[in-house]
Amino acid sequence: MSELMSKHLVIIGNGQMAELFCSQFTHSNDYRVAGFAVDRDLIKTNTLLGLPVVPLDEVESRFPPDSVHAFVAIGPAKNNAIRAEKFDELRARGYRFASYISPQAAISPDAKIGDNVVVGTFSVVMAWSTVGDNVLLGSSSIVGHHCHLNPHCYLALRVTLAGSVIVGQRAFIGVGASIRDNVNIGADSVVGAGATILSDVEPNAVYVTERAKKLPIAADRVRL
Ligand SMILES: CC(C)(COP(=O)(O)OP(=O)(O)OC[C@H]1O[C@@H](n2cnc3c(N)ncnc32)[C@H](O)[C@@H]1OP(=O)(O)O)[C@@H](O)C(=O)NCCC(=O)NCCS
Repeated sequence: MSELMSKHLVIIGNGQMAELFCSQFTHSNDYRVAGFAVDRDLIKTNTLLGLPVVPLDEVESRFPPDSVHAFVAIGPAKNNAIRAEKFDELRARGYRFASYISPQAAISPDAKIGDNVVVGTFSVVMAWSTVGDNVLLGSSSIVGHHCHLNPHCYLALRVTLAGSVIVGQRAFIGVGASIRDNVNIGADSVVGAGATILSDVEPNAVYVTERAKKLPIAADRVRL
């Protein structure tokens, strides 16, 4: 798409996620990033990556919702509550949302993808799965068939969901976790990095698997 045809975008956030998605959208050509908006008390500098940073209470006058799309680029802090709150606020203020779908992602034509969604590089979403609004699916992740990812959940990098997994609202699944088929991941829960989940995860609970242990031998004594 030529620059003239690309849509304008305001990114909500001014942290590393905002910088990351400014880069991703800029190189995708579908959107032209016009600037950033954050809560007034979080503004550290008036520009970021050469673009204006405006207070969120002025966002409509600076980036009108009838001509600019929004993208919430905020990390999973506070159990995804901030990301969820900003998405709902921007929607109530009349914004339409961009999604970032990597050109290297593979999404079944029979999957449904919501608004303000990220599907990272080399990720897969299989048939009959639903990825709800404001879900982040990090790079190299796999969503098996018939999964349902509820709004605002956050799957970090290289997460694997087997078939028919349900992920509750605002749940967080850490890097490299694997979830067995037909499992429900409760709303607001946290699955730690590398965890293997074989049965349902309770809402608002934290699950981890045994972490790597140090062997009582020196590294130069092992067979490589
Ligand atoms: C589960 C998690 C959220 C807990 O974070 P935390 O509250 O800061 O916990 P701590 O690091 O203080 O660890 C508390 C205990 O749990 C253990 N633990 C923490 N995470 C663990 C994990 N993923 N697997 C196994 N054990 C873990 C720690 O070893 C520690 O045990 P100890 O008390 O016996 O030493 C975090 O460790 C994690 O896995 N985060 C996901 C990382 C990730 O995917 N990041 C991507 C961001 S985009």
